[in-house]
Amino acid sequence: MAPRRASRVGGGEPSLAEDQRHGGSSGGGRLVVVSNRVPVPGRRGASGAGGLAVALEAALREHGGIWFGWSGDARSAIDADALDRHQHGRITFAVTDLTKRDVDEYYLGFSNRALWPVCHYRLDLAHFSEQETAAYFRVNSVFARKLIRLIEPRDIVWVHDYHLIPMGAELRTRGFGGRMGFFLHIPWPSPEIASALPRYRQLLTGLAAYDVVGFQTPRDADNFGRCLVEEGLATDLGGGVFEAEGRRVVTGAFPIGIDTNAFREAAIKAEKAPAARRFISTLGQQKLVIGVDRLDYSKGIEERIKSFCAFLAAHPEQRGCVTYLQVTPKSRSDVPEYKQIQQEVAARVGEANGAYGEVEWTPIRYLNQNVPHSTLAGLYRAAQVGLVTPLRDGMNLVAKEYVASQSAEDPGALVLSQYAGAAFELDGAVLVNPYDAVEAASGIARALAMPLEERQERWTSMMRHLETHTVSDWWRSFIDTLSRQGSAAALPSQDAAGATG
Ligand code: G6P
Repeated sequence: MAPRRASRVGGGEPSLAEDQRHGGSSGGGRLVVVSNRVPVPGRRGASGAGGLAVALEAALREHGGIWFGWSGDARSAIDADALDRHQHGRITFAVTDLTKRDVDEYYLGFSNRALWPVCHYRLDLAHFSEQETAAYFRVNSVFARKLIRLIEPRDIVWVHDYHLIPMGAELRTRGFGGRMGFFLHIPWPSPEIASALPRYRQLLTGLAAYDVVGFQTPRDADNFGRCLVEEGLATDLGGGVFEAEGRRVVTGAFPIGIDTNAFREAAIKAEKAPAARRFISTLGQQKLVIGVDRLDYSKGIEERIKSFCAFLAAHPEQRGCVTYLQVTPKSRSDVPEYKQIQQEVAARVGEANGAYGEVEWTPIRYLNQNVPHSTLAGLYRAAQVGLVTPLRDGMNLVAKEYVASQSAEDPGALVLSQYAGAAFELDGAVLVNPYDAVEAASGIARALAMPLEERQERWTSMMRHLETHTVSDWWRSFIDTLSRQGSAAALPSQDAAGATG
């Protein structure tokens, strides 16, 4: 998409709503998506966008609307009212820079050293600092102050992920009375774990300010409901509906999907592309096991390497017959815990190859870098086993992409952690406990030895699910639920073709 317009606005500029009125658009309520990462096309970081950004891009491309959030840039000082706007097709990107201090404290600090580990059940890795906690609420307040200028009462505001929990309450304080939803892409833990968070009650109250709070799995939604009730912040009305401060809050599971057909087609194309072919040709007769994860401790990469070693130890006849390719793009490298895991994973790979490798065979090939999605799709298709064993994961779209990439004639098998949100949906996977190397190793062995008929049966069942629960179904069902709350008016689309139904 080529940028059509980019402008920087200060406090005195017309709102986007006014722009739209004067520009002759429908004038009805629009979809306003808010997320920390906003991959403005053509800007730094846009191409390495993760699952969240890919899913939201799909929703906005189809529906049209505004996408508001952080530009990804950190400056020593910023203009308090500045906002960059870029029009790309039907999406208006509205982004703001942050100061270096805000990035350190709000993003690297409270979001990624407090909320992220706690939500992934890693209290041992959580780092709490009053300064960072205060910055988290402060940045949310600044975001709300900027966003309020862009929105109108009929708009639907959809806020995403753990960076922005207080946004809704901040918008309400500033007078926004329209419909607001929140979707958490990561797990929400049980009250025993969640209550360790600083300002726990304030975070819960912030979530209860939305009309709809969506989670990846019923377990996360249930955990959240228990948190609200145990803290005495809401009454459970049943069916995921709560009453908090005289308002209804609807909670539920809205598992995120992928663009299944597009991914399958990309995989068919990618398998024939030179990059994938070159790699596949180096395998000879060996089978391929593939893992693809951001370099994050929640992904259980070290445990996975241990499991693969346990597999090689238990099956010496398989040595030289299987290659495990782990692709692990660097992530949040300025956070100390992430620096540490980078060194540890590299060391484990080295040890494993040193112990099990042979002159003509390297058991684990490790890429600590970004590989384009288009190449990955081809590698997924070529791999006999998708090894997706996070210690905890909100959903894990790699599991879904792996399934969507397989050929119906000779599909690979998926080995999936029981702690990935995807385990609630992908009933054809070989489920394993990622902490138990022996169990995970026998899962790998089982997947590699699985007869064609069983692989086809399992794959067909998973693929049928992915075809009927796509990313489009995900956002439509959330927006639909949100549209039915509060106001009687349904969310109008920006044109008939993009109607949400
Ligand atoms: C996870 C989070 C997203 C986040 C992504 C990449 O998927 O749920 O909100 O954007 O990781 O992490 P980063 O810190 O690079 O945005």
